[in-house]
Amino acid sequence: MDQNRTPWWRDAVVYEIYVRSFADASGDGVGDLPGVTSRLPYLADLGVDAIWLTPFNRSPMADGGYDVADYRAVDPLFGSMSDFDALVAAAHEHGLRVVVDIVPNHSSSQHAWFQEALRGRHRDRYIFRDHTNNWVSVFGGPAWTQVDDGQWYLHMFAPEQPDFNWRNPEVQDAFLDILRFWLDRNIDGFRIDVAMGLFKAEGLPDTDPGFTASSPIWSQPEVHDVYREWRKIVDTYPHEPALIGEVWTDSAHDLAAYVRPDELHQSFNFAWLEAPWAAASFRKVIDDTLAAVPAPTWVLSNHDVVRHPTRYAEGADPARGLVRGNAALLAMLALPGSVYLYQGEELGLHEVKDIPPEARQDPIFLRTKGEVPGRDGCRVPLPWSGDTAPYGFGPGGSWLPQPAEWADLTAERQTSDPASTLSFYRRALATRRSLGGTLPDTIAWLDSPTDALFFARGKLICAINCGDEPVDLPPHEQVLISNGRLDGDILPPDTAAWLLTE
Ligand code: GLC
Repeated sequence: MDQNRTPWWRDAVVYEIYVRSFADASGDGVGDLPGVTSRLPYLADLGVDAIWLTPFNRSPMADGGYDVADYRAVDPLFGSMSDFDALVAAAHEHGLRVVVDIVPNHSSSQHAWFQEALRGRHRDRYIFRDHTNNWVSVFGGPAWTQVDDGQWYLHMFAPEQPDFNWRNPEVQDAFLDILRFWLDRNIDGFRIDVAMGLFKAEGLPDTDPGFTASSPIWSQPEVHDVYREWRKIVDTYPHEPALIGEVWTDSAHDLAAYVRPDELHQSFNFAWLEAPWAAASFRKVIDDTLAAVPAPTWVLSNHDVVRHPTRYAEGADPARGLVRGNAALLAMLALPGSVYLYQGEELGLHEVKDIPPEARQDPIFLRTKGEVPGRDGCRVPLPWSGDTAPYGFGPGGSWLPQPAEWADLTAERQTSDPASTLSFYRRALATRRSLGGTLPDTIAWLDSPTDALFFARGKLICAINCGDEPVDLPPHEQVLISNGRLDGDILPPDTAAWLLTE
């Protein structure tokens, strides 16, 4: 490996494909791997560098596939292993890397090991106890379920997702084999689900519920030894596969503990996604991240959170939320590091809020008896073409109903409209690519009005106006791109621009 060359993941734009909702080739209303393959030209045109596929392993789908019954099999709902191999080969032909999800914190209750455990054998692969503690499931309700003989097992998510016991070397070894299995199929990286969750504090002490770094449930020190082992394995593959952790922490400092030369290559930077639309909050996340994390990443949306145009529209109208989203996109694309996009954001999709209760499938909705709407609203199948649902998603229907307004937002409708969100995303990604490799990994803040941020990265300046008043742009030679009309040298509210200084 050439030590001076930037590894691919370091500044990649990675597009998350929530496979169930991307494109359906089989016509059963659920997206699948051949559907993904059929849309690779679209993704290559969009200008991303890699795709991340959410789980497609054999699963009873109690949590949309994050409940894996066989880590080495493709669920027939999504296709076959040869469909997977064909997808990887076609993606590589299009110059796209392929990252796959791996779910090590828990399996499905249908996994052969858990079925054995239910029969009273090898229970120490999971966390069985005679008594419970006060832990609560992330999805609502208790984190313990009782089995027929009176013991309880731990599940930090749904009861159909029993947590593995990572203190058992058998579990550790099984995952090393699973990593090799997929690496040998030529994948380019793993997105590690609930990466901070594998170990629970010895003795399982009671806790205050919630995600806090100091909790006995998350981020126990032993988890780092696991990723050191994983890193040794991926490093034996010459094509630089990457390990990307889904790590929720309270601070950039805690996040950085996972991103080390002998551990994970990257972690998602959820602080960026959680930051409200405000210059001060963006600046704090940027400063904290760049100070602490050696390989920064940026993400605004994924399959677990309310889509960012909807979040940014809080207290404002939806159209304004979308404009702000496009400005935030320019800000994150200008920062050093890599960027994770979520399918449909390039079409300007909002969260779908009016899914009828009987159509909802997220276990969060079901377990909270509808009190928490859950994540179906960001998982509605994509609109590709046509005027009526399922908008080219597939020859059948779509597993969640799509809104009527999406007729105006199909990829087909947007593709030739220079004013569309899709065209803007393509321009932004192409502009970023054209600067590729020429920008330093550091930024310098420039003076700006309070509600705006101006930062320079070498010859590039990014200016974003999060306030309600127009501001003057900083001195520059040329405007490369902006997400709205500039009025001479004035940057209107909700707008960002990239400027060149030389
Ligand atoms: C992660 C996934 C989420 C899933 C959960 C349990 O947070 O992103 O979709 O429900 O893990 O596997």
